Amino acid sequence: MPASTQPDVMDKLVSLSKRRGFIFQSSEIYGGTGSVWDYGPLGVELKKNMKDQWWKAMVRMRDDVEGLDAAILMHPRTWEASGHVAGFTDPLIDCKTCKGRFRADKLQDARCPQKPSKKPGEAEQCQLTEPRMFNLMFKTFMGPVEENASTVYLRPETAQGIFVNFLNVQQSSRQKVPFGIAQIGKAFRNEITPGNFIFRTREFEQMEMQFFVEPGTDMEWFEFWKAERMKWHEQLGLSPGRLNYHQHEGTELAHYARAAFDIEFDFGGTLGFQEIEGIHNRGDFDLSRHQEYSGKKLEYYDAPNNKRYTPYVIETSVGADRVTLAALVNAYREETVEGEEEGRVVLGLHPSLAPIKAAVFALTKKEGMPDMAHRIASDLRAHFPVDYDETGSIGKRYRRQDEVGTPFCITVDPESVKDGTVTVRDRDTLKQERISADAVRGYLSERLPG
Ligand code: GAP
Repeated sequence: MPASTQPDVMDKLVSLSKRRGFIFQSSEIYGGTGSVWDYGPLGVELKKNMKDQWWKAMVRMRDDVEGLDAAILMHPRTWEASGHVAGFTDPLIDCKTCKGRFRADKLQDARCPQKPSKKPGEAEQCQLTEPRMFNLMFKTFMGPVEENASTVYLRPETAQGIFVNFLNVQQSSRQKVPFGIAQIGKAFRNEITPGNFIFRTREFEQMEMQFFVEPGTDMEWFEFWKAERMKWHEQLGLSPGRLNYHQHEGTELAHYARAAFDIEFDFGGTLGFQEIEGIHNRGDFDLSRHQEYSGKKLEYYDAPNNKRYTPYVIETSVGADRVTLAALVNAYREETVEGEEEGRVVLGLHPSLAPIKAAVFALTKKEGMPDMAHRIASDLRAHFPVDYDETGSIGKRYRRQDEVGTPFCITVDPESVKDGTVTVRDRDTLKQERISADAVRGYLSERLPG
């Protein structure tokens, strides 16, 4: 993994996210819930845009991928078949002295919570326990009786909902192999060492696609999806220099995987390059296991060639929260502005991700300017998320929008009321253009990708 060359902006993002309504700590008034986060008014738009872009690229634009929304609670046998009951575990080590809790396989990267912070086990008085295996699935009970027979799990990945529905989707949509099933949904993991804001949390959303292929064609499709998914991240504005492939080899390879690559993003600072998406060749592991555990055939009948087989699966799996964090880290910049003492903070988000697409300002509250600005805002609102602002100096209003990534600001001034023109200011170039108020909607449509 290459070392990071990027600055650490995480603390600044945590503070901006709270101040501007992107992301809040869950149940903050009670002191917060460990590594669970809530998305505020701007955050919910940003994450929704991210999910919409994924859905558009993976489902809407393709005739060989179908959508699905499977339930979070599944039959408990699902998780026996998938290997999660027996194997979705991390080795856990406790320090009896500092009460720190560490993953045994990540001990080298861990720091003791006591100051001055050292590696666990390094301080003389440290008493580390032997590693214990700890299952990461959240358990709960279905129905009023709390007994083993009614144990269910909050799904730790969305993928299994796709596997168990393979034939339902294939037969109802009349798709032929090769084809894929995609879904976006919540997943839960009782992580031992969550943290780094929304990077590793206990409740998160996944965007997963399983592509079912004929055995023997799997590596070709694996290479196809590996390239496609990297393109998607680049198209949404993640800097190519901050993106990287990481190949899983040896013991890193999951029990189900014939081949696996991560797409990594450089989060900067100590976090550096980290996985944002996994592309896996899962072979026929999952479908075979579900056939075995359910006793139901999950084979595909290739009618033209009159043969039956269990398809292999190429999986693409990306965390909606983690890639949203990548977009925020990538977009955050501090700049000096010519002729101004105060610099500006800009979220240079790709326009398709920006939570607000345009802000409309009345220069002052006089001479009919607010009326005209309100009219423009309400016309635009039917087409884009728009903000209206008439408070504070115009400079302050621009800064407020720059900080949340709004690509365009439209200002109504005294000239506007006379001749029906407005100025449009570009977030990145800071250039201002005077155009007819009637042309604003078209101007934005041309510049804002759908
Ligand atoms: N179905 C395969 C699977 O779940 P994974 O590598 O465990 O693979 C896929 O997870 C993606 O889900 C990761 O690349 C990451 O983006 C996201 N993810 C996993 N655990 C997460 C967590 N605790 N918090 C936030 N995102 C997580």
